[in-house]
Amino acid sequence: MSVLATPPGPRERIPGATIVSFYRDPVGSLTRMAAEHGDVARFRWGPRHEYLLNHPDLVEQVLVTQQRSFMKGQALQETKRILGEGLLTSEGTLHLRQRRLMQPLFHRRRIAAYAGEMVECADRLQRRWHDGETRDVHEEMTRLTLAVVGRALFAADVEAEAAEIGEALTDAMESLQRFMLPFYGTLERLPLPGPRRVRASRRRLDLTIYRLLAERRANPGGGDLLSLLLEARDEQGEPMPDTQVRDEAMTIFLAGHETTAVTLTWTWMLLARHPAVEAKLHKELDDALGTRAPTVDDLPELAYTDMVLREAMRLYPPAWLIGRRALVDVELGGYVVPAGSIVILSPWVTHRDGRFFVEPLRFDPERWTPEAEAARPRFSYFPFGGGTRRCIGESFALMEAKLLLTSIARRWRLRLDPAQRIDVLPRITLRPRYGMRMRVEAHRQ
Ligand code: HEM
Repeated sequence: MSVLATPPGPRERIPGATIVSFYRDPVGSLTRMAAEHGDVARFRWGPRHEYLLNHPDLVEQVLVTQQRSFMKGQALQETKRILGEGLLTSEGTLHLRQRRLMQPLFHRRRIAAYAGEMVECADRLQRRWHDGETRDVHEEMTRLTLAVVGRALFAADVEAEAAEIGEALTDAMESLQRFMLPFYGTLERLPLPGPRRVRASRRRLDLTIYRLLAERRANPGGGDLLSLLLEARDEQGEPMPDTQVRDEAMTIFLAGHETTAVTLTWTWMLLARHPAVEAKLHKELDDALGTRAPTVDDLPELAYTDMVLREAMRLYPPAWLIGRRALVDVELGGYVVPAGSIVILSPWVTHRDGRFFVEPLRFDPERWTPEAEAARPRFSYFPFGGGTRRCIGESFALMEAKLLLTSIARRWRLRLDPAQRIDVLPRITLRPRYGMRMRVEAHRQ
């Protein structure tokens, strides 16, 4: 095959048809495109072409081996309006400097310090639950993960402010996502309610966070992430400017809660639909914990819990789409992707590819035995991305998800409300479109 050939892709009879189909059903339209056009599909996106890559080797090339040829995609650039130049959105030398500075803060041993607080947050949530009542588990999990990341960042004494920041941040991101259009830059300059709301939320956020920063400076030495960000020094012994600390704190707050909340929500749904898996999980918890609460030392013993979470993130990857912009012409799968093009990697599509996962739509934690995993290509599964932009919070997220899941599952069984409709709402994370109403049944109190 000549490297100059154009990749296959949908032909648009009506201009803009691909954009309309994508907005109507993002994961469905990507899945169809991959099935119809193969590992590299080219499609029209307004005035330009974009590329969907559907093979683990191509994912690895973009995220790891050729990562220097790419930067983050357009959608993420838009979030700079709220997140500024934090780890998720910054590029080049700034990103490298910040990543080096912050990596130690997320080391497995360091984050183990937050385990107790995670379990405490889960306990506090369950104290409000009553046997037999129905709750929206997506809302509950969001509240829970917000409390966890709020405590990790700002310590327990500022819970009210943490809740306030969480609310302002969610509000700002909601408005931004609704307005995430190619011409947002123009819209933003007009006196419209959406962009005005984004700016107002940002001002509200900044007020609170700069006040907390000043307080931390006056009382240094806390173990919370905000104190650690203030104490961090680069190789020249320089601290971060306050604006950078603000951007990093906002980024952690945002990146660190919704992803884990949706992971847990989809896991509860899948457990409710697969009683044999749920029973095996409960048996593991009964054997390992009995009546006591989990601690970080229990986690290595909870192998099945780990497999359940991995499998839930396979079927419902919280970050369902990862975008990059090519900085130079790049050869991918026998085609040339020209400089400036957007390439799309979709954990949703790749994780459900029958070439790598037998009966891909079946929820089966047994896929995650070490032998089964070793037999698959490395990037057939990439819920946390890869390369230098791989999720810095991966260990935090996995520890948190396991501790919260086990804290709750050892006491409760969650049953789907018979009227609950299940569908995805792909935003920045993969949310449940209709929430997740479930009946909480006491298993053991
Ligand atoms: C199940 C939970 C989570 C999932 C699935 C997840 C997924 C991801 C993915 C896929 C990326 C890479 C995005 C890209 O390459 O464009 C990423 C980056 C990031 N995540 Fe997570 N994440 C999770 C939890 C967390 C937590 C708990 C934190 C912080 C406490 C966090 C903080 C970050 C940050 C700061 C980045 C940017 C890293 C960089 O570019 O250097 N994430 N995450």
